[in-house]
Amino acid sequence: MHSWRAALLRFDLHGQAIYEADGLLVTGPGSSGPAVIVAAGSHAELAPRFSHVPCTHLPGRLLAPGFIDMHVHYPQLDVIGSPAEGLLPWLNDYTFPHESQFSDPAHAAVVASFFCDELMRHGVTTALTFATSHPASVDALFAEARKRRLRLITGKVLQDRHSPDGVRDQTGQSLADTEALIQKWHGVDRLGYAITPRFAPSSTEEQLRGAGELAAAYPSTWIQSHVAENLDEIAWARALFPDARSYLSIYADHGLMRERAVYAHCIHFHDEDRALMRDTATAAAVCPTSNLFLGSGFFDFAGAERVPFAHGLASDVGGGTSFSPFVTMRAAYFAGREGQTKPGISLPPERLWWLHTAGAARALGLEGVVGNLQPGCEADFVVLNPQATPLLARRTSQANSLAELLFAMIVLGDDRVVERTIIA
Ligand code: GUN
Ligand code: ZN
Repeated sequence: MHSWRAALLRFDLHGQAIYEADGLLVTGPGSSGPAVIVAAGSHAELAPRFSHVPCTHLPGRLLAPGFIDMHVHYPQLDVIGSPAEGLLPWLNDYTFPHESQFSDPAHAAVVASFFCDELMRHGVTTALTFATSHPASVDALFAEARKRRLRLITGKVLQDRHSPDGVRDQTGQSLADTEALIQKWHGVDRLGYAITPRFAPSSTEEQLRGAGELAAAYPSTWIQSHVAENLDEIAWARALFPDARSYLSIYADHGLMRERAVYAHCIHFHDEDRALMRDTATAAAVCPTSNLFLGSGFFDFAGAERVPFAHGLASDVGGGTSFSPFVTMRAAYFAGREGQTKPGISLPPERLWWLHTAGAARALGLEGVVGNLQPGCEADFVVLNPQATPLLARRTSQANSLAELLFAMIVLGDDRVVERTIIA
């Protein structure tokens, strides 16, 4: 066992923040596998019980749950910052050419290693990640994540039409490859498999149906895709599937909406779509830096509370512009404030933080496993330095409440705040 004394942030079951200015976090071996939280609370209360446990004292630091990135593309590391008119030209001009390079396992291994290091440097300890259509891209990422003991979920992209040579796959082979990868990797150490149709326009009905059949046959796998991101994309999906009630319902029609299904963006929704998300226990990955960068629109946070469905935050690198959860939370705040296309709201800082930790874990079906520092959770946490820059030191020293402290870090913070990332 080991204990850590510092300020401590965690969440209760209702998503309310619990804060100890002088806290103690006790970690110990899990029954099998990763280390877990043994106890968390105020130092004064817990110290007598754990006086025999070695303690690392970190004055001035804040211990918080490792962040969860609900949607990111590891093969798009080198696509970050590629400008385009909108989503579809961005895919054709930059993304597909970059992703075609992942037919080379050596290239995939180099990028996967850099990607995992970058996640950890930014305090991200769990990620739901796209690979490319090449099975070797999945092997490369799982291998690198396993070395670092990261909790990582990924899958081979399915895209058997409207995709250029180099990334387009073949229907029957793509489904056989998916099943083989599930059997090879799903549940190995901290790794999980996600069945990954890229988006409805780039899959035939046959491929979507096959993906849905695999999702039914392997109910503990995840499903990930994109939906309702961009107006041209939506018009295209509607034209290709004229009988579907909406773009989102194409996925329901093919058995791809269920617990552990995660759809990126979910911007241009009607309340029927929100109700379908809610009724199928499907989750949204909200990607505000990507939505701002590609001019896609603004996720409607008030709508997602009015017709409540699970959602959490994501970087969506390389449409997204940063790996930093601080940058993502900041952009989510701005996206919430936008008030011309929807009623603007002011998301509280504790809520933004929850959406990137315990709330994201709930949306992924991993509540009580990661994203929190309650007893029994896996011991993934970050040591944050609220004085990491001169301006942060000045601003956070004047914070009179937890909300003020967290808001200062969200508005001014980045990777410099993350002093250490501790994995299980
Ligand atoms: N829709 C289909 N593929 C992609 C992708 O790679 N990024 C984003 N942002 N949207 C997509
Ligand atoms: Zn994406």
